[in-house]
Amino acid sequence: MSRLLISQRLFDSAVAQLDGTDIEVDLRDGGHPMSRDALLQALQGCDGLVCLLTDVVDRAVLEANPQLRVVANVAVGYDNIDLATAQRLGIAVTNTPGVLTEATADLTLALLLAVARRVVEGDAFVRSGAWSGWQLVPDQMGIEVHGGVLGIIGMGQIGQAVARRAAHGFGMEVRYHSPHRLPATLERELRATAVTLPELLAEADVVSLHAPATDETDHLIGAEELDRMRRDAILINTSRGSLVDEDALVEALQAGTIAGAGLDVFEREPTPHPGLRDLRQRVVLLPHLGSATSTTRRRMAEVAVRDAIAVLAGEEPLHLVRRA
Ligand code: GLV
Repeated sequence: MSRLLISQRLFDSAVAQLDGTDIEVDLRDGGHPMSRDALLQALQGCDGLVCLLTDVVDRAVLEANPQLRVVANVAVGYDNIDLATAQRLGIAVTNTPGVLTEATADLTLALLLAVARRVVEGDAFVRSGAWSGWQLVPDQMGIEVHGGVLGIIGMGQIGQAVARRAAHGFGMEVRYHSPHRLPATLERELRATAVTLPELLAEADVVSLHAPATDETDHLIGAEELDRMRRDAILINTSRGSLVDEDALVEALQAGTIAGAGLDVFEREPTPHPGLRDLRQRVVLLPHLGSATSTTRRRMAEVAVRDAIAVLAGEEPLHLVRRA
């Protein structure tokens, strides 16, 4: 008999996969992360943990629970878990790639269009009653998306899904910067060209971030990089907030160094830089909704629970995270 802690509320269909197993479940039904002390206490004697990206599973939490065999994260990103410590202690870490690719790519395009075409400002304008009629040159004049150049930083599954939509749906040319070059056939299909980061920043109408949060990507976009971008370009981030130096971004937006930003993730969630909240023109802020459709979030929870069950049954999980 093994014991599994589920740290926060999950979909019933995910939890139901545990029926008929010999796993005893401690299901915390809160919609928020447990306090650190509560997590430490609840993990005592547990063999497995299913957690969300808001749960901090750091070195101290893992070292206090070396009996753990698996930490299954309901997310593709796993920067909330100290992977090196988990691996040293022989604890498997799993994530949920694949199932969220298309939903996250859809939201990236939604943000891109919302910023470029000033959708949120237009909505607020109509609701305010200030709209007096069609104008040739409205206040909410946008940036042309079709046929533009999209720069993708991090060409993994989500980056590729964004490129596919942009190339085939919006006739965009894609430049990308990533640790690995795509096969030539895929580059052709995505109309994608591998370039250096400075080249990408200089050429793109839209720069979209799809890299994981690591020491190497921390503040990948800072003052220098923003300065290299075109003044009419926009920055989209649906990956992790730590990739962008928010102080530098606020300064760049205020100074007009770049034209706009669409952000679904922030350096300190749930508290974006106050300067960002004050910027209303061509700046759209979302509460980390990348994968937030009920179909996708349900699948993510199901995948995470299934992998926790696999490890506790002594089987290979589908999505074991390996250190690069
Ligand atoms: C969401 O941000 C995820 O990593 O799945």
